[in-house]
Amino acid sequence: MAFPTHRFRRLRSNPTLRRMVRETRLAVDQLIEPLFVRPGENVRNPIGSMPGQYQWSVDAAVEHCRATADLGIPAVLLFGIPSHKDPLGSEAYDENGIIPRAVEAIKEACPALAVITDVCLCEYTSHGHCGVITERRGARDVDNDATLRLLVRSAVAHARAGADMVAPSDMMDGRVGAIREGLDENGFAHVPIMAYAAKYASCFYGPFRDAAESPPQFGDRASYQMDVTNTDEALREVAADVEEGADIVLVKPALPCLDIVRRVKERFGMPTAAYQVSGEYAAIKAAAERGWLDEKKAVLETATAIARAGADLIITYFASDLAGWLGENPMDR
Ligand code: PBG
Repeated sequence: MAFPTHRFRRLRSNPTLRRMVRETRLAVDQLIEPLFVRPGENVRNPIGSMPGQYQWSVDAAVEHCRATADLGIPAVLLFGIPSHKDPLGSEAYDENGIIPRAVEAIKEACPALAVITDVCLCEYTSHGHCGVITERRGARDVDNDATLRLLVRSAVAHARAGADMVAPSDMMDGRVGAIREGLDENGFAHVPIMAYAAKYASCFYGPFRDAAESPPQFGDRASYQMDVTNTDEALREVAADVEEGADIVLVKPALPCLDIVRRVKERFGMPTAAYQVSGEYAAIKAAAERGWLDEKKAVLETATAIARAGADLIITYFASDLAGWLGENPMDR
């Protein structure tokens, strides 16, 4: 035989050996489950564009978190829907706001579950932008530095309530450094920051804005989120966040950015997270509902691809499903 037959196929054709030489392994302790918390009692509002996802009142979120922790999922990421929105997003930094109340209740019920909080203003502002609006040359835009001050207050309020980690998702320049300084000055030097370091202006956040009731009322987020065409800029963004004190760097969205995940992991060697966002979730759900995709296979394949690209942590609305599937006999998946 002039060429080697079965060179690659020998191991592949034996299911047990194939399983033993897998290069990428997914585990439940890589998963972070995002949750939406809203005012009220005993509320579980289905989110139309994200079948299987809900807005939870604090009491219902606590019950849900018990189940999440029982599945072995180590962390949740909380997003808040306030009782009232205003131009400065004041509930975002209210110490009695929705997130501090949720953090306290969840930590009390599930002390071992890591509670990570989203730090951003868009869920809290009446205009839906991630910061304070200013007018420059006749055009409205987000004021970077005025926003920083409010983000710091928000992060400190979350830490004071007992958050294990804060996750700024606003994409203002300098926010990681400002938040680090604010946390340190207030006695929270031990609270790490998971920075949305490379966050693209993506259409895949559409369903989230429905879930968090936060679509921008005018314009878009292109003045603060990254242009989809750029990759070197992502490395500069990550470098800045690392220098300012980020403990974990996050790339978002996940599947459209696997190249970025890989470059970031290789360049910085930092704990790296990728966020499989609302639109990625909705796309798989919609296709699965129509019978066009096998949901379990699609979820396992995409999560594996995200891990294979270099993500240590995966933030995904499929976390509970994944935890169940990862607990099954590996020969069945
Ligand atoms: C807030 C924020 C968004 C997401 C996470 N944090 C929305 C946005 O930037 O428009 C999106 C998450 C998702 O789509 O699942 N800045």
